[in-house]
Amino acid sequence: MSQQNVMSELQKERSKFKPALPAIIKNGAGAVKPLAGKATKSVADQATVQKLFTNTYGMPVITFVKGKNAAVTKKTVRIGVVLSGGQAPGGHNVIAGLYDGLKKANPRNKLIGFLGGPSGILENKWKEITGPFMDGYRNTGGFDIIQSGRTKIETPEQFARTKKTLLDNKIDALIVVGGDDSNTNAGLLAEYFKKEGTGVSVIGVPKTIDGDLKNEQIEASFGFDTATKIYAEVVGNICRDVNSARKYWHFVRLMGRSASHITLEVGFKTQPNIVLIGEEALAKQMTLAQVVDYIAGVVARRAEAKKNFGVALIPEGLIEFIPEMKELIAALNDALADNDETLKALSSIDEKKHFVYTRLPAHLASLMKSLPGGISSQLMLDRDPHGNVQVSQIETEKLLVDMVKAKLQEMKKAGAYAGKFSAITHFFGYEGRCGAPSNFDANYTYTLGYNAAALALNGLTGYLSSVRRLVKKPSQWECGGVPLTMMMNIERRKGKEKPVICKALVKLDDAPFKTLLKNRERWAVTESYLFPGPIQYFGPESVTDMTTKTLEIEQSRIKRG
Ligand code: FBP
Repeated sequence: MSQQNVMSELQKERSKFKPALPAIIKNGAGAVKPLAGKATKSVADQATVQKLFTNTYGMPVITFVKGKNAAVTKKTVRIGVVLSGGQAPGGHNVIAGLYDGLKKANPRNKLIGFLGGPSGILENKWKEITGPFMDGYRNTGGFDIIQSGRTKIETPEQFARTKKTLLDNKIDALIVVGGDDSNTNAGLLAEYFKKEGTGVSVIGVPKTIDGDLKNEQIEASFGFDTATKIYAEVVGNICRDVNSARKYWHFVRLMGRSASHITLEVGFKTQPNIVLIGEEALAKQMTLAQVVDYIAGVVARRAEAKKNFGVALIPEGLIEFIPEMKELIAALNDALADNDETLKALSSIDEKKHFVYTRLPAHLASLMKSLPGGISSQLMLDRDPHGNVQVSQIETEKLLVDMVKAKLQEMKKAGAYAGKFSAITHFFGYEGRCGAPSNFDANYTYTLGYNAAALALNGLTGYLSSVRRLVKKPSQWECGGVPLTMMMNIERRKGKEKPVICKALVKLDDAPFKTLLKNRERWAVTESYLFPGPIQYFGPESVTDMTTKTLEIEQSRIKRG
């Protein structure tokens, strides 16, 4: 059955939405030329990154400018696309933009979708994206058009297999739609293909709800806007519930593997009583006990005013930012990687834990033993293929509730607290990753795909599709590409030093965090809650076309125009 046959009423209406394209690119790749800026450097570890990327290091930032470009419309190309990593709203529109951009340049161009993420390339599984098939997915959430996966193309055999699949299928360029890890892979593939003289180019598209794939040229990753709107709707509803019933504290953990951008944005949109930011805990070198003291302090102050209720937002990555936990996780990563075979042979989680305790420095083994059993088991879970701890599986909100309860008991005994603490926990993550894209994400993703087609048609490789000045109306957005090597640094993954795209964390001296600082004391003690409600797809522009508060604050000097 085609997607179109199973559409909800809203989907049917939404499928009629025509994403807006920036004026510069709307006439297709044949009407723009790539203008090269100055040579670039990686954000850190320049000498090492340069050595690893001898063929693609230092390339200039590209900006598209008006100009006839007949060369890109004369040739016929076959382009492959792969969706990689976690879902993010708007992935289908990236493919729609790519498809339309390719067809606009030359109707004989073909788009091939690799199935199930990078493993689809390794296993040579793909399907051609055709017009009617594409139409069933326009403006919808999800990645189900070709599905996604987290396979990392890593070994020499996997690189060789990738090359074989692309050459066998006569693919001219591969578009990798992914987050920091997937685009690191894109950069490595671009380098490998260039070294091997394959002529296949690789272009990335910045995807992740986490919002941590950003810099001057990548102002936002797609999906962040929609996902944070979905979380904010539900958190706003919880704020209204506590304000009505006045009997519970709600501890809400929000996705965002490392960076706390999602929590910060949802904080702006709902103004709850507590907004924890992982990066702040790290900068202040806070222990878990100090984080608990802060929360218990707010609970106690509100209790003095007879307010035994509130809402606390917790970024899922918090646990990795607390220095003692960070040290434990880093040591655990190495211990798990070094003892993989031995651990596999042990059957129970307790046996595994006891083995690992013997491989950790004594102070870290005792920290791990002091954690509730559920949490220490969650810390042992397999790392993802890129070596990341699966923080989405670690129930930090429950850990904090237990610790806050214990702290309040202590305070009660000491006469420093006389309230009631009844807490409910939530985790919002997967709920936001496949929502129907907001107008912003629908336009942005379509443009990112259209722009990726233009980069690929120009034979560029090792670039990330870059659409800039995002607080302006889409017609005024700028388009171009940013070299993937420019974003790289060296990090320790699975016990080894690896080149990876540097995650953009919340910066404490930037305007968004400073805005939180200005407000959080007031939010803690008064009910300043905002109730943003659901995403609006129809109605006044002031609600349908809003960008994120984070972007608004970051680009406050740019007028929407
Ligand atoms: P990407 O970085 O691939 O976009 O994924 C982000 C994310 O949604 C994180 O917020 C979360 O920690 C993780 O994926 C969950 O991964 P999985 O889907 O494998 O459970």
